[in-house]
Amino acid sequence: MQTRPRRLRKNSIIREMVAETHLSKDMFIYPYFVTKGKNIMHPIASMPGINHFSIDTLIRDIETGLKAGVNKLLLFGVGEKKSKDGSSSYNKNSIVADAVRQLKKNFGDDVYVITDVCVCAYTDHGHCGIVENEYVQNDSSVSLLAKMALSHAQAGADMVAPSDMMDGRVGAIRNLLDDKGFENTAIMSYAIKYASSYYGPFRDAADSAPQHGDRKSYQMDFRNPNESLKEGLLDEDEGADILMVKPALAYLDIIKTLKSNSLLPIACYNVSGEYSMVKLAGQKGWLNERNVVMENMHAFARAGANLIITYHTRDILLNKWI
Ligand code: PBG
Ligand code: ZN
Repeated sequence: MQTRPRRLRKNSIIREMVAETHLSKDMFIYPYFVTKGKNIMHPIASMPGINHFSIDTLIRDIETGLKAGVNKLLLFGVGEKKSKDGSSSYNKNSIVADAVRQLKKNFGDDVYVITDVCVCAYTDHGHCGIVENEYVQNDSSVSLLAKMALSHAQAGADMVAPSDMMDGRVGAIRNLLDDKGFENTAIMSYAIKYASSYYGPFRDAADSAPQHGDRKSYQMDFRNPNESLKEGLLDEDEGADILMVKPALAYLDIIKTLKSNSLLPIACYNVSGEYSMVKLAGQKGWLNERNVVMENMHAFARAGANLIITYHTRDILLNKWI
């Protein structure tokens, strides 16, 4: 036999020598759900290990995480007043704007604060834009989203991350931020976001499920890979700094194709349903949580993800899994 691939698997030193994929702490972004009130740390039933935090307890949680390198945070606001027009989303004292100000005041540039920009937790109908004639209107929704992004930038957000999937929102947000002097606030676009049932646990957590219909007139059809390139390249043109693919685990092909067709950093979002499946099976002892989590994280990196947004971040870094 001329070729014996097993030679390179003989012991752990040689396996490390020839490993093709490496994870780094710098790749991980941790999502947080922040709500009004004081001293709240309320477990989210559908996402074991994840909580709703008020700003005070959030700060304490971040202090612990920071020591292990959890310093890139993605904030979601929960429990704001819901209305037809979603106007609480851009209030300068919205829960997210308040949280950003407090985090920046406490931690400065020791934390990198990213905010999710979408109105589904702020509209009474739960859609990611303005609904008229039972249709989610594109252009009026884009103006609303741009105002929301601006309010986060004014509060001090380092990066805004629009997750609504309206057409043209990245360009509109970029223009408004630039006009108002926030040319250094970055945009990570949820460029490629499929209409997915893996978001189920998140919608409980954020109380953002649509009250009628579904999100298929704006989020993408999971049968369409070509369309992902179209969406990705459009957002690149509109000025996105980072492109994200969401969900991640069931969409590794999409991550890979995007990575080879864009020069931007590529992020993937290991979403709530993907998290809860692994976490719950781990808690039940049905699979080895640590091993499965790390297998999944390597899969994202192997597909080409430069950044991984995952609810597992805290476990990975605090338990020193890397
Ligand atoms: C809001 C938003 C969603 C997620 C991130 N931002 C839910 C949705 O589109 O319904 C999903 C995150 C997750 O499932 O972890 N538009
Ligand atoms: Zn939304």
